[in-house]
Amino acid sequence: MSKPLLILGAGGHASVLIDILLQQKREILGLVSPEIESNSKVFNGIRHYKSDDDVLKFDKKSIELVNGIGSLPGDRLRSSIYNKFLELGYEFAIVIAPSAKISGYAEIGGGVQVFAGAIIQTGAVIGANTIINTGSIIEHNCIIGQNNHIAPGVTLSGQVTTEENIHIGTGASVIQSIGIGKNSIVGAGVVITKNVEENTICFPVRIAKKVI
Ligand SMILES: CC(C)(COP(=O)(O)OP(=O)(O)OC[C@H]1O[C@@H](n2cnc3c(N)ncnc32)[C@H](O)[C@@H]1OP(=O)(O)O)[C@@H](O)C(=O)NCCC(=O)NCCS
Repeated sequence: MSKPLLILGAGGHASVLIDILLQQKREILGLVSPEIESNSKVFNGIRHYKSDDDVLKFDKKSIELVNGIGSLPGDRLRSSIYNKFLELGYEFAIVIAPSAKISGYAEIGGGVQVFAGAIIQTGAVIGANTIINTGSIIEHNCIIGQNNHIAPGVTLSGQVTTEENIHIGTGASVIQSIGIGKNSIVGAGVVITKNVEENTICFPVRIAKKVI
């Protein structure tokens, strides 16, 4: 049987997760965050705990955590919260929106979150604590590392490999068989056609040609 959940974070990302979890009739014990950062009505009626220490009042075997901390390029709060509570023995729930399509032959790591309309094809592997955001496509045999954020509307063609702590920005496209090194950022809308080294930011190509 599904365990009750504690949500870490209370901003926009957490609101999307709670919306999914309420549709799935999951029991939510509370939100843990110094403040409620979003005015979304989904937070109404959910108990608010203000300190990370409040999590320790809950038996780690009786509940699961949900990482509601969002992730912007280069930000490590989400992964540090995940690692902190994993080391304390807590487990993180996998959250999958009802409209996401995930092949039965894909592997989904602990704490992975897959939002509405995303598609994960056969043979894909998604590393722990990674976000597959709204409407993104992870084609066959992609290997996605831990702590990645595949932002809304991204397309990863077949056999793309990403290492850990990677952000692939909104609407970016990556052609088949590309490798992306750890800690790298692919800007929104960028098209990647060559391997990306670690610790790299990819900006879109801007070509202006004066014809007259
Ligand atoms: C690539 C990115 C990380 C760069 O951020 P940054 O290093 O702070 O760069 P800046 O914002 O200082 O931008 C530098 C210049 O590049 C331009 N630029 C930055 N990212 C761009 C992008 N993706 N497409 C087009 N132009 C871009 C900026 O407009 C700016 O132009 P200017 O010098 O003419 O003013 C960021 O712009 C980006 O694309 N982030 C992804 C956002 C995302 O995926 N959000 C999802 C949330 S769910």
